[in-house]
Amino acid sequence: MHNQAIRANQPEEPPDAFIAAESRPPGGAPTLALVAEPPRWVATGITEKMAAFLAEEPETPCLVVDLDVVEGNYRALRGALPQAEVYYAVKSNPAPPLVARLIALGSSFDTASLPEIDLCLGLGADPAKLSFGNTIKKSKDIAAAYERGVRLFAFDAEEELEKLAEHAPGSQVFCRLFVDNVGAEWPLSRKFGCSVAMAGDLLIKAQALGLEAHGVSFHVGSQQKDLGQWDVALEKAAELFRDLAAVGITLKMVNLGGGLPTSYGNRLPYGVDEYGAHVLGAVDRLFDGPRPRLIVEPGRYMGGNAGVLETEVVLVSRKDAADDRRWVYIDAGRFNGLAETEGEAIRYPIISDKDDGETGPVIIAGPTCDSVDILYDKAGYTLPLSLKAGDRLRLLSTGAYTTSYASVGFNGFLPLKAHYL
Ligand SMILES: Cc1ncc(COP(=O)(O)O)c(C=O)c1O
Repeated sequence: MHNQAIRANQPEEPPDAFIAAESRPPGGAPTLALVAEPPRWVATGITEKMAAFLAEEPETPCLVVDLDVVEGNYRALRGALPQAEVYYAVKSNPAPPLVARLIALGSSFDTASLPEIDLCLGLGADPAKLSFGNTIKKSKDIAAAYERGVRLFAFDAEEELEKLAEHAPGSQVFCRLFVDNVGAEWPLSRKFGCSVAMAGDLLIKAQALGLEAHGVSFHVGSQQKDLGQWDVALEKAAELFRDLAAVGITLKMVNLGGGLPTSYGNRLPYGVDEYGAHVLGAVDRLFDGPRPRLIVEPGRYMGGNAGVLETEVVLVSRKDAADDRRWVYIDAGRFNGLAETEGEAIRYPIISDKDDGETGPVIIAGPTCDSVDILYDKAGYTLPLSLKAGDRLRLLSTGAYTTSYASVGFNGFLPLKAHYL
């Protein structure tokens, strides 16, 4: 582990114990654990493998991902919740080496589109381990997924159910419930899910259409800081199980969705072990009869802390000599990997190898000619006063929702390059 000084961070929650020590969880791959309260933390940092690669000064901007950290996260989740099948949310980082590592570990996959399905199948995934989890699908894609052997599908609307009955006959279907995303740093809004009452009607209809009314899903919002949100969602799911049992339909599966947080250098209110114990306790408390089949769909948790984004400073400036805040323009921005800085929602820890002690406030912006390409203005980041063009900055915990969000070439800037170690 490299003890690099942090030169910019989230001022609201200072990363007081940010410098990490290496640890090896029982039976797991080496991961990083922060010195303070290790169980509560998902490690954030730069592993030795990453550091060795970065020492060669790869062309920037680029993402560097240590797959051993991903493996450690997978194993930790399996250990914390062995009763659940892990369906990795491919959308969070669909890189073939990462997906291949998870296939080798026995993971299943939550896919959002036919290309994601083909990606997994092309790498050797068993179609029986794929879920077509997007509630918004074209008929031709449903048919193609079915033809490839996928038999597990999400829906939240009557028209979608009719498409599934026609193009994926006899498949297992699960209905996504609408839940509030209170407490999530990256909420998923009202775009997905339906009410418990509507889900009940639709699952009855699913059965009548020759599909298997398999279960229910929800997503409590990404980077969810409040464990209690799973209780709220599970109460709704249990209500649905009871409603359908009353009309003779036995639902079998609860999909706990994503939402498990990664660390952005600040203290997490719970660790993966607490998550597992909490969720399992809620399931056992709320559901009658035998425990349902459980599925969990982690995205951000799985790859987030496994990545570091190396960038170069392109320009440091002030708009007036009297300005106390400098503008720092870097070669990665909103359109080439850092889309989740929208609304300054996700605040990546940023480190500089300059260790001159003195820092000052900055506005950090990307390289394009678009004025929305400003990463952090209100968040209160600080960077070394000596920072200048050509210096490098590292954004930590960037392994999820970065490469897959990059545009194909806005302003001519290429999609974010990535290296998987
Ligand atoms: C259906 C579904 N499952 C899982 C995930 C992964 O969520 P997270 O990255 O918060 O774990 C997402 C993310 O958008 C999703 O849409």
